[in-house]
Amino acid sequence: MTDSTIDPRITDLRNRKDKAKLGGGLERIETQHAKGRATARERLELMLDKGSFREVDALVTHDSHDFGLDEQRIPGDGVVTGFGTIDDRLVYVFSQDFTVFGGSVSRHHAAKICKILDMSMKNGAPVVGLNDSGGARIQEGVLSLAGYADIFFRNVMASGVVPQVSVIMGPCAGGAVYSPAITDFVIMVKDTSHMFVTGPDVVKTVTHEEVTFEELGGASIHGSKSGVAHFTAENEEDALFIVQQLMSYLPNNNMEDPPVVPSTDDLLRQDEELDSIVPDNPNRPYDMKEIIRRIVDDGQFLEVHEQWARNVMVGFARLGGRAIGIVAQQPAVLAGVLDVDASQKAARFVRFCDCFNIPLVVLEDVPGFMPGLNQEHGGIIRHGAKLLYAFSEATVPKLTVIVRKAYGGAYCVMNPRHIGADLVLAWPSAEIAVMGPEGAVNVIFRREIAAAEDPVAKRNDLVADYRSRFANPYIAAANGFIDDVIEPHESRPRLINALEMLQNKRDRLPPKKHGNIPL
Ligand code: HXC
Repeated sequence: MTDSTIDPRITDLRNRKDKAKLGGGLERIETQHAKGRATARERLELMLDKGSFREVDALVTHDSHDFGLDEQRIPGDGVVTGFGTIDDRLVYVFSQDFTVFGGSVSRHHAAKICKILDMSMKNGAPVVGLNDSGGARIQEGVLSLAGYADIFFRNVMASGVVPQVSVIMGPCAGGAVYSPAITDFVIMVKDTSHMFVTGPDVVKTVTHEEVTFEELGGASIHGSKSGVAHFTAENEEDALFIVQQLMSYLPNNNMEDPPVVPSTDDLLRQDEELDSIVPDNPNRPYDMKEIIRRIVDDGQFLEVHEQWARNVMVGFARLGGRAIGIVAQQPAVLAGVLDVDASQKAARFVRFCDCFNIPLVVLEDVPGFMPGLNQEHGGIIRHGAKLLYAFSEATVPKLTVIVRKAYGGAYCVMNPRHIGADLVLAWPSAEIAVMGPEGAVNVIFRREIAAAEDPVAKRNDLVADYRSRFANPYIAAANGFIDDVIEPHESRPRLINALEMLQNKRDRLPPKKHGNIPL
């Protein structure tokens, strides 16, 4: 067919499709590039397998007439939506186009995102949203707000059905932040992305605080202080690479198991270095990350929330090719104590793993809950309870290795057999008791110490005696609370063996509408 025989209406439609590819036009694309940011389509190309992207709704435009919008209809309406693959696995995507009305959300823009969320749920594949938007399309008023609420509702419906990942690659402000906040993972790009409910100007008016965009809601703040961002990326490419890495550990949906990859690391590998990592002095710190790396396949650990609540570590790894979620104390930070933030961080991670059939492995060295006015008034009771609740209700395979301390209430919270752990192993260095030796003798031998000729020597004797009697794993093992005391170098093969043993685990909670986790 020659050009002259094509129906002009079809030519017009084809032109519109080409126009959609240019978004807000070359000038705005250049402005976007000048800010060090890629366009919506370039980002999708980087993230998805080459040539796999299939667009839907490229010809959608807004239908508003006010404020001169009649003259500005841009096909696609500020968001590129569709599906493609990452590592040959299906994923649904939307990518907001800042070059079109600042990526602002109109009713039709929102409807496009909703369609993608509906498709992801119906067809059981993850959804990744690349956010870069000035928020609600101001000219559309309540129609835009309605669109946002439609998105939020679907985010909630999809929660626990398909993994949802949000990458923040520009502004994300006002109520718009609540869509990423509901999704499973938020990845922010350093220096170029911001999230806040109210911007610096409003903050100044209301609280008289002067803050920059970065101080208020930059990637570093959300990655280290608020905990809103699970990952902070160095740049856009890094952010999209994190998405790819993350996806490799996740199943497509809640009815599937995570992908198993053939392990190149010897399943029976024993690491003798593990035998000397825990210091003889129980009050000396060490790096639990080193233990994780020596146990898991090829030393690969994708840490989530790396800079926030660093006293506990959570993240993904593989054992014998199977994906696992790790929860581990970090004795090198605040002695690995459980505080408000650490409890919340670990609880949410445990619930994510349980939603998506990812077995949990706990490496425990916890001296207890953090004391103090700040923690008590900050609700450590409420927040600590979240972790207890999350481990108790998780039905995925649950393994615990007690590396050193398991004291007091923290022992009960950190996935002991009593709340459903399937196998609990302890290293010989494990200390399991109601409280540490120093605290314990002060309580139960207060009078004896006070009456002694040399109270310090008496106290030291009592501490030594208490330690030899209680600060070990053998009383717990004699009661069947620990299934075995193992040498540290055996940890990898024993955990791989345990995961194999549990691969057909069946467990159910009592029938209920849903529980009432202490939010
Ligand atoms: C319509 C918008 C827009 C919006 C930006 N634009 N935000 N159009 N609705 N919300 C347009 C601009 O008019 C401009 O058009 C183009 O996008 C690029 O914007 P610039 O301001 O030139 O870009 P920049 O200097 O990079 O600043 C980006 C920005 C700023 C910080 C995001 O645009 C801004 O402050 N926008 C308004 C943000 C806002 O208040 N949104 C509403 C939040 S409340 P031209 O044609 O000039 O290039 C909200 C409620 C959600 O979102 C509720 C959910 C429950």
